[in-house]
Amino acid sequence: MILVTGSTGNVGQHVVRELMAINVPFRALAHTSAKAKALEAQGIEAVVGDFADGTSIRTALQGIERVFLLLPDSPRRVQLEKDFLTEARRAAVRHVVKLSILGANSQAAAPILKWHGQSEQQLEASSLAYTHLRVNWFMQDMLADQARSIAQESTIYQPHEEAHVSLLDTRDVGAVAAKVLTETGHEGRAYEITGPEALSFSQIAEKLSAYLGKPVVYSRISDAMAWQNMLANGVPAHTAHNYLTLFQFHRQGGGAVLTGFIEILTGRPARTLDGFIAENIQGFK
Ligand SMILES: NC(=O)c1ccc[n+]([C@@H]2O[C@H](COP(=O)([O-])OP(=O)(O)OC[C@H]3O[C@@H](n4cnc5c(N)ncnc54)[C@H](OP(=O)(O)O)[C@@H]3O)[C@@H](O)[C@H]2O)c1
Repeated sequence: MILVTGSTGNVGQHVVRELMAINVPFRALAHTSAKAKALEAQGIEAVVGDFADGTSIRTALQGIERVFLLLPDSPRRVQLEKDFLTEARRAAVRHVVKLSILGANSQAAAPILKWHGQSEQQLEASSLAYTHLRVNWFMQDMLADQARSIAQESTIYQPHEEAHVSLLDTRDVGAVAAKVLTETGHEGRAYEITGPEALSFSQIAEKLSAYLGKPVVYSRISDAMAWQNMLANGVPAHTAHNYLTLFQFHRQGGGAVLTGFIEILTGRPARTLDGFIAENIQGFK
């Protein structure tokens, strides 16, 4: 039996969908009872749990052999994942597939990369088999973060200068995770999962211009301006700091890596940004 954590989020919903499609038994960890009920209404076995509540995690892990482990970004990540691994060992879990990030490194300057790196290390040091999925930036974040300025001002504001990033689609992450959870041979591996092309924001603006039939420009803003924009949009200061340090990593070339693991692991080509924009064109208008 597989436990899918983060099952109602950007990535987890696609892990759930993929496992359902291949009829593999799994249990979904839901953060709230309302979300558990919604999952159950789709015929999915669901259990309510909170990473900060060991008792709920212990219950969720009963009878589980493999786990898809996804926690939202938080300064508490390392401790919460440590506590989760303690419960997983107690439940005799065999394999943990950890959703990590491209550039994860316990020494990184960017907190998000550092916390994932430290969490990877403690998983490796545990007696559990592991696979790290080090995924790059989600295309879906463009819709969430940039659609408004693209629609209203025909402008993308980012502090990326000319950095290239190999954005990927969360649906492909779900497909990769389902494969790794249901096949053998992935234990002890760290897969860097990227989209099919590394693009600058100038190139992304060109693609948007073509699909929208109007000029979209890329405004190269400073870190200070990006910081002000995030705070004005209600992003907490510590989260804004985390994003800015991640973007600095991208400016150093860290987000431009290209690997073929989506196609290698799923047998399907990675989804392209062109396809994503075309499918979601109304969201950018
Ligand atoms: N965004 C990117 O481009 C990107 C790139 C690489 C890696 N990542 C990594 O991806 C992860 C985020 O994935 P995502 O975007 O799928 O996250 P998400 O959409 O924010 O979903 C988080 C999921 O976890 C649940 N959850 C939140 N707090 C919980 C708690 N205390 N206990 C139990 N469940 C809880 C949420 O349920 P509720 O919604 O009900 O709270 C939701 O199902 C992070 O680890 C991040 O570092 C992100």
